[in-house]
Amino acid sequence: MPTHLIVLAAGEGARMLSDGPKVLHEIAGAPILAHVLASAKALDGERVLVVGRSGDAVSKEALKIDERIRIVEQSEQRGTAHAVTMAAPELEGRGGDTLVLLGDTPFIRPETLTALSKARADGADIAFLGFEASDPGRYGRIVAEGASLLRIVEWKDADDAVRATTLCNAGLVLAETGTLLRLANAAGRDNASGEHYLTDIADLGRAEDLDVRVLTCTEEEALGINTCADLARAEAVFQARARQAALAGGVTLRSPDTVYFAFDTHVQRDVVVEPNVVFGPGVVIESGARIRAFSHLEGCHIGRSAVVGPHARLRPGTNLGEDAHIGNFVEVKKAEIGNGVQVKHLSYVGDASIGRDTNVGAGTITCNYDGVSKHRTEIGDKAFIGSNTMLVAPVTVGDEAMTASGSVITRDVPGGDLAIARGRQKNMAGFAPKLLARLRAIKGASKSD
Ligand code: UD1
Ligand code: CA
Repeated sequence: MPTHLIVLAAGEGARMLSDGPKVLHEIAGAPILAHVLASAKALDGERVLVVGRSGDAVSKEALKIDERIRIVEQSEQRGTAHAVTMAAPELEGRGGDTLVLLGDTPFIRPETLTALSKARADGADIAFLGFEASDPGRYGRIVAEGASLLRIVEWKDADDAVRATTLCNAGLVLAETGTLLRLANAAGRDNASGEHYLTDIADLGRAEDLDVRVLTCTEEEALGINTCADLARAEAVFQARARQAALAGGVTLRSPDTVYFAFDTHVQRDVVVEPNVVFGPGVVIESGARIRAFSHLEGCHIGRSAVVGPHARLRPGTNLGEDAHIGNFVEVKKAEIGNGVQVKHLSYVGDASIGRDTNVGAGTITCNYDGVSKHRTEIGDKAFIGSNTMLVAPVTVGDEAMTASGSVITRDVPGGDLAIARGRQKNMAGFAPKLLARLRAIKGASKSD
């Protein structure tokens, strides 16, 4: 039998004080929602996302992640049970089980979902997930006897004795589809919030003699994001896990706490990452490469044994070949950089391709934008671009060609040629002291005014 999924994301997220929907706030460069959907990737049934009235942006993002996902609207936020009933038309009669995930709880591990399924297979009718909290805050509290769940009390409805307990509700639940929809529909709103609570299905289920159980996970895994402080905590949890995973995979991190990974950063073994490096989405680094301090990389592929930084910025579409060197204060965007290429100082390379073993001198700029369109610069193999060359694109520099320092290259340079495109130097014999005397006289005259 299939297991279907309902993700609840209709809430306003008011506690974030944000104009945008809560589930689109990002952890490690990906929306909270993407993390939630990733944890349930293995489920084989229908997928339903419940969004609020202004859910267009959320729907768009969800469809980007999973084009099969069905979107339903909950136009008024009347509680988590009410949100589940909005998904009923998509799931009624489909049998199997349904898992409800909260859109603001991003770190649930696939293994934990497997454990919930196992509890179902072992005879539980409804399986909730709880966790022992060191800081229980305003989570709902689970009242249980061993694995048997008696009821869940929302913080707002709890008395001091219940608030003092530490077994909290992670918010998700797995049950047979028909049971879930029926009980969610029966949940009343006689509580402090006046909302239909999904957590009430525990009580309702027990009243029908159903087997309601609680499994547990860690506090970290259950982290629910309600405020910007929670979001910062979630980022820290993600980063701690990513750093551990990198170290475990044979990556050298000189100062792990200062390296920031994206959700999809892929770093092979034997890579060295120096302090204060930030990875945006879409970075792959092959073995043996070194990312030096204070570099920022996103959307790029770094070949074997390449060196990047310190203080380099690699933007999307950068493809660095083996042994390539990108040095300090160099920015690269949408560029194929061949094996053994050196761009070591203070340059901008954008919309370009550079052949193997070419040297690009300090301060070289590909002038790729004319104010309207972007144009490409093509440089061949073993070329030498003199310092402070302006390559006014579209332009091509052939294999083994050279440009003289300070040139403004506006026409193609055939392979093997030397291009010099700068004003000729003129020396005025003995003129320097005369010029200085004249300048001082001008300054003196203006002071006495
Ligand atoms: C919920 C649980 C609480 C648990 C906590 C874990 C209930 C009643 N309470 O509380 O026991 O400890 O999560 O993090 O379930 N949503 C809708 N429609 C609504 C209301 C909410 O789609 O009408 C969505 C929200 O967008 C959010 C999720 O459901 O993604 C949870 O709602 P939220 O208001 O954050 O619940 P909590 O108060 O955190
Ligand atoms: Ca929440």
